[in-house]
Amino acid sequence: MHKFVLLLLLFLHEIYGRTQWTTDQAFAWFNAQKPYIMGTEYMTSSAVNSLEMWQAATFDPVLIDKEMAVGGQLGMTTMRIFLEDLAYSQDPAGFKNRMSTLLGIASKYGIKPLFVFFTNGAIPNPANGIQPKPIPGVESSDVVGTFANDSRVLGWDMWNEPDDGINLNDLMLLFPMVCDWARSMNPIQPLTSGLYRDVIGAQNKNYTAFELLQLNNSDVISFHE
Ligand SMILES: *[C@@H]1O[C@H](CO)[C@@H](O)[C@H](O)[C@H]1NC(C)=O
Ligand SMILES: *[C@@H]1O[C@H](CO)[C@@H](O)[C@H](O)[C@H]1NC(C)=O
Ligand SMILES: *[C@@H]1O[C@H](CO)[C@@H](O)[C@H](O)[C@H]1NC(C)=O
Repeated sequence: MHKFVLLLLLFLHEIYGRTQWTTDQAFAWFNAQKPYIMGTEYMTSSAVNSLEMWQAATFDPVLIDKEMAVGGQLGMTTMRIFLEDLAYSQDPAGFKNRMSTLLGIASKYGIKPLFVFFTNGAIPNPANGIQPKPIPGVESSDVVGTFANDSRVLGWDMWNEPDDGINLNDLMLLFPMVCDWARSMNPIQPLTSGLYRDVIGAQNKNYTAFELLQLNNSDVISFHE
């Protein structure tokens, strides 16, 4: 029964949610980012991992303010920041409040974060036994939904390096769903999923089926190595 209600809600969202951006929309968004998009990957310098950065006990707005100020002085306009499934699942409301605090600080210095969901490679505080699994759909839809109209956010990187260490068949099914759920929240910001294998300087790159799926589900294209 609960599953049914959840599906119905998702279905209703999909009716009203927006579609993937057209090329024109993507260019319009890009050209509106003044004066340019420049930044770095960011984690507070005191944190050993993104769990420490985001969990209530160690979240450090004073340090974030100092570091965002430095970024702003260097002319940075964005930071790519990993969100943290565990910190979210411990306390979704608190987690989103901390995101909002960070956005408030960053915006003082003209910095709009690109937030990154799910990272397969980096499980915080690794321990023996069953590893925590992200809950695709729940965290990303809730977070994107909460900040859907927030112009302090540059965009959403839907899944960091998704095809690194996850069953590809599962991923081919799951990945478009995660993007659809987030897009059904009608975000004003673009969704993207960074390509990261042999992209810089690649000539006539042959994209894998999964890379095509990443491209096909993005509003704007991003890459890193
Ligand atoms: C975003 O704005 C739209 C249109 O103004 C509104 O319908 C929607 O509820 C807003 N969403 C959030 C999360 O504030
Ligand atoms: C891509 O595939 C074509 C056809 O198999 C091959 O000739 C070409 O060398 C490949 N390109 C790269 C960059 O691997
Ligand atoms: C991606 O889109 C292209 C053209 O729009 C299509 O030919 C291709 O099959 C799609 N690939 C995947 C994996 O969805």
